[in-house]
Order: sequence, then structure tokens, then C-alpha cells
Amino acid sequence: MSDSALLAFDDEWHLASSLGVHMGIEPRPIERHRFPDGELKLRLPERLPHRVVLLRGLHQPNEKLVELMLAAPAARELGARHITLVCPYLAYMRQDIAFRPGEAVSQRHIGALLAHLVDGVVTIDPHLHRIASLDTVIPGVRCTALSAAEVLGEWVAARRTDALLLGPDEESQQWVARAALATGLDHAVCRKQRLGDRDVRIVLPDLDWAGRQVVLMDDVASTGRTLVEAAQACLGAGAHSVDVAVTHALFVGDAQSQLRAAGIGEIWSTDAVPHDTAVVSVAPLLAAAL
Ligand code: R5P
Repeated sequence: MSDSALLAFDDEWHLASSLGVHMGIEPRPIERHRFPDGELKLRLPERLPHRVVLLRGLHQPNEKLVELMLAAPAARELGARHITLVCPYLAYMRQDIAFRPGEAVSQRHIGALLAHLVDGVVTIDPHLHRIASLDTVIPGVRCTALSAAEVLGEWVAARRTDALLLGPDEESQQWVARAALATGLDHAVCRKQRLGDRDVRIVLPDLDWAGRQVVLMDDVASTGRTLVEAAQACLGAGAHSVDVAVTHALFVGDAQSQLRAAGIGEIWSTDAVPHDTAVVSVAPLLAAAL
């Protein structure tokens, strides 16, 4: 890929380096300066080839969306004709309908913004629930939605040979089913009712829980309340252990300590979001797709 440039920001440099090794190119930095009033200034390499791969995950999304709004047109001014956004975590996908009249359907509007900025999007486990395909979310752009479910499942299977992969809600069926298919492990999903940002109720499926090694799998953990409630329910029903494997470890605030307090043992994630629980790299998946 010598006629391509891989651009990345400092906070994702670890993933950028792995991706660069797999693609056979050195990542090049986008420098950021934050002015006292909060405005951003970016500096890109002075000359760019026609094909540019721009790595920008959207954890802590609002600021990063502004970075994208600056970086993509700047890259075009510096020579890029085709920009592929590698966005390991694609934010704003959960608000896919107006749950109450008047609500902005964030998924659609952020999708339209990305469609305006870039020519291709590669992402991992986007939260697509009621919408079947990313192509309808980001219209006119070549979209590739990869999944880390198999590689996370293999990580789990090597450490919990008799695990039950448990999704905390119906939406997680797509990820636990893939992981189960790849590993031969059992899987099931719970039912979840969300009453507020940090208020969820979980109902376990009707299974024999005594002595089970449960691994909760989900695409994203944010406040961690979903995992806490599911773990407490499993342990209360007699499970031997509960560990966690998620693609996107957002873990805001005290989420991790809440998980530990709920009796969760291991917390495993991918490097789709930079986090100290990341044990599985998505770089090979991304490089193969590119
Ligand atoms: C939504 O359905 C997602 O898959 C996650 O279950 C959810 O975003 C987790 O949020 P929290 O960690 O705040 O409970």
C-alpha cells in the first residue's frame, strides 16, 4: 500500500502502529493543538497521496467528530482523493429511532455527516439493531462492518473451556451467536429493560445456572450497569463465576470498580477502544478489510 497514507492521532497510536505493520506502511501523525477557548487546530502531513486511510475511533465522540470535520477536508486539500475512515468504534449508533416524538435520530444524522466527509468506512461491531445495514446509515459510502465476536470468543474459549456466553439483552444475540459458532461454546441471551442511563433491569433466560462459568458478551459497555445487573442475576442464581468480554470498553466513570464490586472476575476487551482491559487486537481484522 505504498501509494496510500495512514493518518492517526496520538491517542490511537498503538492501534495505528499495529495496523501499519499489517498494512506494510508507517502511520503518519495528525498533530492537535487545543486553544485556551477549546477550539482545535490540526496539522497534517504537508503532501498526501490520492488514497488516505484515516484512523479515528469515536469514543468520547463529540470532540472527535469535530476532529473528523477538520481532518477529512484538510486531507483533500493536501492531495487525498479517496478517504477511508477506519472508525473502530462508531458512536451514535444506539439512537436509531425517535423513542419519543421530537427526538433527533442521531444514527441517521451522524451517518449523513460521515457520508459527506469520507468515501469509505470500516468499523467493528457497530450497534445496528433495528437497522440491518451500515450502508443505509451512511448512504453512498462503501461501508464495511467487521465483527470482533469470533476473536473475542476464541480468547474466552482458551480460558474458560466450558463457558456459557451470555448476552445481556436481545440485541447482543448477533454477537454471542457468532462467538458461539466460532468456538462451540453454549450461548443464551437475557431480556433487558432500560429505565434510565444507569437504571436497567435484567431477566435471565430459564436455564440451570448452578456451577456455570458465565462470560457476559456485549458490543459495548458504557456505565457498566447492564453488565453489573446481569452479573448479579447470574451469581444470585448460582453461577460459579462471571467474566466479561466486550468489543468496545468505554467504561465511563467508576464502571470498572462497579463491575468488580458486583463479583465479576476478568474483564476482557479489544483495542477498538484504547483501554487497559484490551487483550485482543482488531488490527488484523481492519488490515484484512482495507
Ligand atoms: C445497548 O444495548 C448496548 O449493547 C449495551 O448493552 C449498552 O450500551 C451498555 O450500556 P451500559 O454499560 O451503560 O449499561
